[in-house]
Amino acid sequence: MALRRILCNSKILTSANFNCGNSRSVQTLSLPDLPYDYGALEPAISGEIMRLHHQKHHQAYVTNYNKALEQLDSAISKADASAVVKLQSTIKFNGGGHINHSIFWKNLAPVNEGGGDPPKGSLSNAIEKQFGSLEVLVQKINSEGAALQGSGWVWLALDKEFKRLLVETTANQDPIVTKGSALLPLLGVDVWEHAYYLQYKNVKPDYLKNIWKVMNWNYATQVYEKECI
Ligand SMILES: [Fe+2]
Repeated sequence: MALRRILCNSKILTSANFNCGNSRSVQTLSLPDLPYDYGALEPAISGEIMRLHHQKHHQAYVTNYNKALEQLDSAISKADASAVVKLQSTIKFNGGGHINHSIFWKNLAPVNEGGGDPPKGSLSNAIEKQFGSLEVLVQKINSEGAALQGSGWVWLALDKEFKRLLVETTANQDPIVTKGSALLPLLGVDVWEHAYYLQYKNVKPDYLKNIWKVMNWNYATQVYEKECI
């Protein structure tokens, strides 16, 4: 995760990690690069969508999170508990937006780089054991994504404690960890309208059907095997 530092004056230096003379550093975020060109996922996802999604939407989450962090730092320095509490929802929404989209870009890959290839090895075995087949799992994810009211995400996650896969949805920009601290995201599908509307209009099921043509199961397999093998 790319970071940049903002140095700001503070009178309440308590952590050695944040000490820097008479200043405290607040580490903020920057927009990560996409691992492929904007048009590289066509025709499944248009380059126009990818550009707007990355440059406008994800950038906005980063910008607003950083702004909130600076406000939080100011509120903490003033011991303004009301302001600290008020900022929590903004930080959750925009920080979650950054976390989720940073995963989402890696969940996708151009077809000529393995996008759409089915999972292999241990993850493939776990999917067959728990869901019966990859087709059944994809259908479950698509059904839950289509049924999600409002904006949100549908996830394939690993429960690290029980080493089990599960399909879960989150509202708005809530990251999967809000559904359980042991949950590790393998794949996340963005079902906000901004992820598909320019191309698929209001036909969300078509977007959900086509996104599997560029799904990066290799990434999901690496995350799974790092935890389970
Ligand atoms: Fe999005």
